[in-house]
Amino acid sequence: MKILITGGCGFIGSHTCVELQNAGFDVVIADNLSNSTDKVIDRIEKITGKRPEFIKADLSDALECNKVFDTFGGITGIINFAASKAVGESMEKPIMYYKNNLGILLNVLENMQKHGIKYFVQSSSCTVYGEPDKLPIKESSPVKDATSPYGHTKQIAEQMLGFITSSSDIRAVALRYFNPIGAHPTALIGELPNGVPNNLLPFITQTAAGIRKELKVFGNDYPTADGTCIRDYIHVVDLAKAHVVAMNRMIENKNKKALEFFNIGTGHGYSVLEIINSFERSTGEKLNWSFAPRRAGDIIQIWADTEFAEKELGWKALEDIDSMTSSAWKWQQMLGENK
Ligand code: UD1
Repeated sequence: MKILITGGCGFIGSHTCVELQNAGFDVVIADNLSNSTDKVIDRIEKITGKRPEFIKADLSDALECNKVFDTFGGITGIINFAASKAVGESMEKPIMYYKNNLGILLNVLENMQKHGIKYFVQSSSCTVYGEPDKLPIKESSPVKDATSPYGHTKQIAEQMLGFITSSSDIRAVALRYFNPIGAHPTALIGELPNGVPNNLLPFITQTAAGIRKELKVFGNDYPTADGTCIRDYIHVVDLAKAHVVAMNRMIENKNKKALEFFNIGTGHGYSVLEIINSFERSTGEKLNWSFAPRRAGDIIQIWADTEFAEKELGWKALEDIDSMTSSAWKWQQMLGENK
């Protein structure tokens, strides 16, 4: 069976290609390479022994998107990673975010209907929950008002899928990721941030590599045990495997609703300081860091209730925090060597 992966050259997309191919699927990648490189295709081939098919395309352009579907027949399902993902940038360029993230979704769904493709996995985010009232957070928890256009596109996407699946044959699973970090154990694929990283792990590894002078820990006065924010960090390989399970669930007709939502996290929350400790412990590197004021828009703490995903999907995250931080470092070192 053939799966189309939009944004398949990106961080999560590339790891998902590997896991899908390992599970026996054929993969077609459509990517505009705006935030990635096609070298990833060679790397995926190196890891799996199989070269995914690739087409460079801007899926937010209806004609280009149609061309992808006209070129590749026999597609069973689609996993949609193609989206812009920087929260700060979305505040500055909201129209671009709505146009890109929702335009891609609409163009892809329209083609699914036209070509009779039934199964769709959407890359969603725990950002849809906002600041939780109760922890761990369950899938049934309310979706709160979005605080950025990026988060809003994730919410709208879920709502659009609700209406579209209820009036068509399309079946969808929205995976609400917590904080994906780490890299493939081969260090052949990983996260490639554009410019100065916004996210914690790339900033840590670039600081340890000497590319950045110092990590600023945003806030030390949060109402948590050590005063820093808490997140549910998940290894990108575990996350990638969840997509294979979600796709198989629909193919095997095991889904219970036309659109299902799952939390994809580990169920454990770690503070920023605990992440720094894990990084230093697992790599033996000393990190240069200091406290800085809180970052606007940060929620205090969130971690997943994973019971529903475990029970329904039969999926559970397996990698621990040290494996996440050490694999991210191995990848950073590999990037340095390839310069
Ligand atoms: C961010 C986005 C979220 C998105 C996710 C995935 C915001 C508010 N949220 O999540 O919508 O889905 O990325 O990429 O931007 N930190 C530091 N110093 C740094 C960087 C981060 O202390 O240089 C802290 C942050 O304050 C936070 C934690 O590390 O407490 C994790 O931050 P980050 O990796 O940016 O992820 P989120 O903010 O959780």
